Amino acid sequence: MLSDKRLAAFAAAIVAAAALTPSLTADDSVKIEHLGTNNTLVRVTGDGDILLMPVQESIDDAKVNVLVDGKNERTMFVRLAKSKVDYKVPFDLTPYKGHNVVLNIITNQSRANVREAKDDACWANFSVTDSFPTENTEKYRPAFHHTPLYGWMNDPNGMFYKDGVWHLYYQWNPYGSKWQNMTWGHSTSPDLVNWTHHPAAIEPDGLGTIFSGSSVVDRNNTSGFGKDAVIAFYTSADASQIQSMAHSSDNGMTFTKFAGNPVITLDSEARDPNMFWHQESGQWVLTLAHALDHEMLIFTSPDLRNWTLQSAFGKGLGCQDGVWECPDLFQLPVDGTDKKKWVLLCNINPGGPFGGSATQYFIGDFDGKTFKAETLADGTVPTKWLDYGKDHYATVSFSDAPDNRRTVIGWMSNWQYAAEVPTMQYRSANTLPREMGIFTGDDGQLYVSSAPSPEVDALRGKAVVNRSFTAKASAKKFNLPADNDGICEIALDIDTRTAKAVTLTLSNAQGEKSAITYNAAGHTLSMDRTQSGIVDFSQDFPAVTAAPVHNAGPISLRIFVDRSSIEVFEKDGRAVMTNLVFPTSPYTTLSVAADGGQAKVQNLRIYPLTPAAN
Ligand code: FRU
Repeated sequence: MLSDKRLAAFAAAIVAAAALTPSLTADDSVKIEHLGTNNTLVRVTGDGDILLMPVQESIDDAKVNVLVDGKNERTMFVRLAKSKVDYKVPFDLTPYKGHNVVLNIITNQSRANVREAKDDACWANFSVTDSFPTENTEKYRPAFHHTPLYGWMNDPNGMFYKDGVWHLYYQWNPYGSKWQNMTWGHSTSPDLVNWTHHPAAIEPDGLGTIFSGSSVVDRNNTSGFGKDAVIAFYTSADASQIQSMAHSSDNGMTFTKFAGNPVITLDSEARDPNMFWHQESGQWVLTLAHALDHEMLIFTSPDLRNWTLQSAFGKGLGCQDGVWECPDLFQLPVDGTDKKKWVLLCNINPGGPFGGSATQYFIGDFDGKTFKAETLADGTVPTKWLDYGKDHYATVSFSDAPDNRRTVIGWMSNWQYAAEVPTMQYRSANTLPREMGIFTGDDGQLYVSSAPSPEVDALRGKAVVNRSFTAKASAKKFNLPADNDGICEIALDIDTRTAKAVTLTLSNAQGEKSAITYNAAGHTLSMDRTQSGIVDFSQDFPAVTAAPVHNAGPISLRIFVDRSSIEVFEKDGRAVMTNLVFPTSPYTTLSVAADGGQAKVQNLRIYPLTPAAN
């Protein structure tokens, strides 16, 4: 007979042995060892370049420490599959060739014992391979908008133009299609519409994950990192949000982090540093979102290394409902005058005109230290929005764009439901690139316009429709280009004449539709996506959005339809609306109808847009 003590020790030894028995794997390229209820080792034993990690989206993140020869190389958070595998994400093993790689995984599931942990779906689905398929497997992946190859994306950030190349960085999770592990993903383009994907540019480190920021080309080597070095500033986000710097001497392909990071610290939440060279005062200026204080801080520096806080803008002004994020400050000419004004973009979440996240802006003056917004006659500062759709956020501009252009890109989603939209291999696209301008509205105030960048025109194929006609109550119907899934640009001029409104409806055989209406009396452009297709993944998704139109008389519209988005631009971007839509099959038909009278529709053109190689 064993004594109770020896019996207990024996039982413990059996449990330990069971725990250490490797569980079944798909092949022998990994070896799994369960150490405890919530702790498992995955040993890489195969030779391939990529470790595939199985993900289940509804599961909590597991903490994954990557040990290389026993040293913790990095920590990532991955929703490792418990009951089913939704998709797999790749971990690049090539930097560790010839070394011993082990994942030390701490799962976050509540389990009774080690035996239960062994049942998790992920263990049998880890494997080492030589390739990770990145071809598009999703029907909603846009054809001519930038998307990440795989994984989650939010804000575009750190964008610059140099030597004929547009560099776009973005908030990226390489290890899943929900927000996590913030890293700067990187794509480049010669023309803002055809994008090439590159390896991650800036990855998390001991100071935190890599939140949004900006990049500049240091033409005069003010920072000492070399003439024409690309300097990036970003927020290192962990327990605190602090501002860090990285420099690149290969045109932004790879970055070296500054040894003296962090460069700017505050004892309150602050993020998304955005820099530019201020010619008049001969110094660098950096705006920083003082998120919870609902204001933007303005710093200056001679050398990008030493920063002085000069002022704060925004407390109590504009929309104060959400956190303030992703600032951008730049000067623009005022259309039709010889004046220039400064624009401060101020992304906020929530508090947008139709709920959730949106981009507000202020127009005013900047003297190198302080931004002052223009006021109305009664002394108040008006709230203005750059885009009146639900899916336009974190918009910031490229630095150093050619020909004095102020080119911006926004994130085409909304924090309300971005993680729930019906895609999986990737999540989120960016908006079309847009050119900023300032115009005078019919109320005498200045507004920012946002027009499609001229490069977008090159996507047009031969028009499949080219018609002028009278729009009446019974709709005139036109086919969208069927051979490329209805992906198109619709351009037209509308003179409402006796009609109260003109509605353009995109629809499919399932009866799903998105309706864009110009209301003549109200001077509004609206879009109804309540019956646009799949809308039930979030109660915040079905919506009617509306934009004021600052324009008496006939209007011109350009409508860009991609697989899961509609962008509407009125007259050179004086009214803009960006909305996602998820029709179960592509829209096939455009119907044009007038309400309460007859309207003249001129030059209706439907151009198929040739999908870019995204
Ligand atoms: C805006 C934002 C930024 C932050 C980033 C994190 O969408 O919240 O303020 O830097 O996303 O991914």
